[in-house]
Amino acid sequence: MAQLDDLLSQIATVASEPFERATILPPAVYTSPDILALEEEHIFKAEWQCPGRAADIPNPGDYITYEIAGEPIFTIRGKDGTVRTFSNTCRHRMMQLLEGSGTAKRVVCPYHSWAYDHGGKLVGVPHERHFAGLDKSAICLPEIRTEIWQGFIYVTLNPDAPDLAPRLAPLNDLIDRYHVADYVPITTQDHVWDTNWKLLTENYMEAYHLPFIHKGTVGGHFPMEDCVYPEELPGPYTYSTFTKGEGSPYGRAHSDNTRLEGKWRYTNVLPTIFPSHMFTLAPDYMWYLSLRPKGTGQVRIRYGASLAPEVVAAMTDRDRATAAAVAFLDEVNNEDRAVVEGAYRGAGAPLTASGPINQLERTIHHFIIYLAGRLGDAHGVWEAAE
Ligand code: FES
Ligand SMILES: [Fe+2]
Repeated sequence: MAQLDDLLSQIATVASEPFERATILPPAVYTSPDILALEEEHIFKAEWQCPGRAADIPNPGDYITYEIAGEPIFTIRGKDGTVRTFSNTCRHRMMQLLEGSGTAKRVVCPYHSWAYDHGGKLVGVPHERHFAGLDKSAICLPEIRTEIWQGFIYVTLNPDAPDLAPRLAPLNDLIDRYHVADYVPITTQDHVWDTNWKLLTENYMEAYHLPFIHKGTVGGHFPMEDCVYPEELPGPYTYSTFTKGEGSPYGRAHSDNTRLEGKWRYTNVLPTIFPSHMFTLAPDYMWYLSLRPKGTGQVRIRYGASLAPEVVAAMTDRDRATAAAVAFLDEVNNEDRAVVEGAYRGAGAPLTASGPINQLERTIHHFIIYLAGRLGDAHGVWEAAE
């Protein structure tokens, strides 16, 4: 416990440093099971997380599955168009109901075929008369809080979590102009990488690595001098923007895009919604990552990409063009994978140490302030350090 208290004090100290003296977190924060246990309890069980996009489930009965803090869930669109989320375990003998994604007129358990409607109500029980006193109408899958913001679905297990959309409202001023909710999904993938979830979050947020790691892909078209970010932590999120050269082959508006004007036609916004949902929003595409820890040394990643509707409409060979776009983003992801897995191996090295960060990594400092708040509040250390 003394060790954990010490680590939490160190996190609080790093978070409270003026930016000129900012560093990354102490290496043990990435490898400590005690820190992970606190994160699970006070971040992943407590906060809103993103399992996908409303556009992934456009029609009644369309569903996606996910898991938050050990709870398997599914999110499904009802006949009324409403998107709802439920516990994904059967109320008979606990079987997992749905896997992957798909469409279901009714949610039918693979075990004994109990059936639930899109509102989670039990509506079908085979051989019902063999149950003594079963009252179907009293049985319903537990519903899980769900919000949709900018076309992203968010869910939380925490009944007391403040509503998310009002907390993200200031970001709307920046991103409403893109109409990202209308972007067309082209891929959703689940992966597990060998790194701590925070190392991947930090990597996605910062621009400093782009010209090096992504030299052959996206790196050459992110002008560092036109990177803009908030000085202070703006809320339960942070962001940066990049205004690209007009000649960039991607990350700029298609000629049929009438929504964006001026520099916004070639500006990209990279928000991170804490704790672990981040996306690159460009005039022509959007890709997001949603992360959950799997132990200290692995991270579960849901990764999705979408294209602006006019980009899709202009495609002559949609299958080939979307496959090429997905392959390109897969390549970018793999470039990141190599460095975040390498950094995790470094975090466990006896002689390792945390180094300074620069302006292009400012969003990492925001993330550290956020973490210190969540973990320190939970443990009563943050107040003590103030
Ligand atoms: S466990 Fe689902 S019907 Fe039996
Ligand atoms: Fe990257």
